[in-house]
Amino acid sequence: EQKAEINRHQQVLEKAQARYLALLRDSQEAIAYLKQRGITGKTAKLFGLGWSGHDRSGLKQVFDHYDDPLLTEAGLVIESEDGRRYDRFRERIMFPIINAKGNLIGFGGRIIGKGEPKYLNSPETPVFNKGQELYGLWENRQGIRQEGCVLVVEGYMDVVGLAQQGIGFAAATLGTATTPNHIQKLLRTSDRIVFSFDGDGAGRRAAWKALNVCLPFLRDDISLRFLFLPNEHDPDSFVRELGPEAFRKELAQSRVLSTFLLEELASRHNLSEAEGRAACLHEARPLISAIPASGIRTQIENDFAKLVSLTSAELLADLARFEEAAQK
Ligand code: UTP
Ligand code: MN
Ligand code: MN
Ligand code: MN
Ligand code: MN
Repeated sequence: EQKAEINRHQQVLEKAQARYLALLRDSQEAIAYLKQRGITGKTAKLFGLGWSGHDRSGLKQVFDHYDDPLLTEAGLVIESEDGRRYDRFRERIMFPIINAKGNLIGFGGRIIGKGEPKYLNSPETPVFNKGQELYGLWENRQGIRQEGCVLVVEGYMDVVGLAQQGIGFAAATLGTATTPNHIQKLLRTSDRIVFSFDGDGAGRRAAWKALNVCLPFLRDDISLRFLFLPNEHDPDSFVRELGPEAFRKELAQSRVLSTFLLEELASRHNLSEAEGRAACLHEARPLISAIPASGIRTQIENDFAKLVSLTSAELLADLARFEEAAQK
């Protein structure tokens, strides 16, 4: 029964997708927008990019029953309070979102002129859960396998812009923070993950949050790294301006998780004072405790002990007390 529901949703999404594709083919302005962002027809095709058109109810052209509740449920049509219906996506470049099984489950749309919001996503539906999906994972699956690595970025255009420049192994969270579910999906795809958020304060906070989510998943046979691009750059703008070789250089210099963790903890406290070292320990306890017993946990424990002027044995005893108290 649930399967039938999913099929019904997919059918209307596919129908809309066909229209968005056809509209892009015929739209000078949408093509010009993509060209101006360095995106070729080949890349647009690879990602199934489309164009929503300008019309308030353009989808009437493909749906005989524009008032079908399924269209509002699927997030393609919005019903206003006075009961009038109109297309959710207008004036937008359309990014179809495809799940791990290759099924279309929703859209992201970027406005091509001024106007808010810059990006609009499909709402949560029975087939679309933002906290679980990653944009580009499907389209880039071969590139990810070949590279043996998946790059996690913030935006649709990062995925597309990187692929345009030959970096075809990125995936983007859909405007949400990284979730445990994302990490599970990513680790199913590759045992090497590099997080690359925008080079601004928000990007750094997002990276720290992602690190926290990763801790319970740490193992000795996976590699988790963090790439911080120079300020004001996101992966798309960086690779467009400086090229794929420069981006690969940055990749090679990305920080391993343990380094990011220890540097960030150190930067938040005055380690020349006992109180600062204690506060640092206080902050680190739940983080280190979240890591399963493993070689990497032992390594982090040893390095962290030095940071706060403890012996490894002292730190282990402290963590054991903390974990015991937490269990009560
Ligand atoms: P950014 O603003 O960094 O997007 O947001 P971007 O891809 O760099 O945008 P442009 O096209 O190059 O200017 C990153 C992601 O956050 C979500 C989208 O998923 C976007 O790709 N977002 C952003 C929204 O959902 N809504 C918004 O209004 C903005
Ligand atoms: Mn339904
Ligand atoms: Mn940003
Ligand atoms: Mn951008
Ligand atoms: Mn960005």
